[in-house]
Amino acid sequence: MTPRMYEVVARRDDLPDTVTLTLAPVDEQCPTPAIGQFNMLWAFGIGEAPISLAGFENGHLIHTIRRVGAVTNSLAASTTGDQIGVRGPYGTGWDLTRAAGRDVLVVAGGLGLAPVRPIITELFANRSSYGRAVLLVGARTPDALLYRDELEQWRGRLDIEVEVTVDSATPSWRGDVGVVTRLVERAPIDPENTTAFVCGPEVMMRFAAVSVVDRGVPAAEVMLSLERNMHCAIGHCGHCQLGPEFICKDGPVVPWPRVKPLLRVAER
Ligand SMILES: Cc1cc2nc3c(=O)[nH]c(=O)nc-3n(C[C@H](O)[C@H](O)[C@H](O)COP(=O)(O)OP(=O)(O)OC[C@H]3O[C@@H](n4cnc5c(N)ncnc54)[C@H](O)[C@@H]3O)c2cc1C
Ligand code: FES
Repeated sequence: MTPRMYEVVARRDDLPDTVTLTLAPVDEQCPTPAIGQFNMLWAFGIGEAPISLAGFENGHLIHTIRRVGAVTNSLAASTTGDQIGVRGPYGTGWDLTRAAGRDVLVVAGGLGLAPVRPIITELFANRSSYGRAVLLVGARTPDALLYRDELEQWRGRLDIEVEVTVDSATPSWRGDVGVVTRLVERAPIDPENTTAFVCGPEVMMRFAAVSVVDRGVPAAEVMLSLERNMHCAIGHCGHCQLGPEFICKDGPVVPWPRVKPLLRVAER
């Protein structure tokens, strides 16, 4: 439970309310994370927040943080040289072994692009291990698109299909307009031979999972990354409970069939 000290070695302002920090261990480092896991980031004197791994490069943790309250405001105000406490990694990861030899469909909404970013990195690192790769991204507006430069790079590649849509266009927007689930219908995949990874606001994930299954992807091959308020992150306090699931240890990545009935309950 004791956080290890990490130093901010790079900071990038992605959006007016969102930054990406690269963290290097000051001395002892946390165990190597699996993609899809999260860390508890500690803003000293304020508190902790669960933040997904957006990348892991040369022992450096990459985290993208949106300011919504006290802890995330403090973390996002960090600049190079500042120190942050890190506890983790925790939770289940994206199981890419099950996607080996299959088409991979990634659906991300808003900040949900951060937890799926390591999937894209893995796809490019071992491209021949997978079939077709499709990334569908949704954002509220063009100005709210996360990782814009990387999206443009990925779109320039011939070995991945990247489609981006926004809920509301600006006059200069030339891309798709509408919810990201509409892109699922025309995604160039072989549905029965596809594994799907979905991350974004909960309502978007529910609709996306239904659309993906309607396309013919087996429900058991649809993985979601859930968010719940967390405190301990190790299955002790119950803060993150959703039905019988403790999202901090049974999740955040869960197969759609397991949480489908629970998300319906939570909706009432
Ligand atoms: C597994 C997991 C991974 C996450 N990954 C990221 C990430 O990569 N980047 C990122 O910016 N945030 C991520 N979050 C959300 C982040 O943990 C919360 O935004 C943060 O805990 C809020 O703390 P705060 O003190 O800044 O705000 P608070 O004052 O605690 O909350 C401010 C507002 O945000 C809402 N809120 C608090 N926690 C959550 C939550 N978990 N989900 C939805 N709404 C919440 C509150 O209800 C309140 O309206 C993740 C959460 C989980 C559970
Ligand atoms: S956060 Fe304490 S049980 Fe999950």
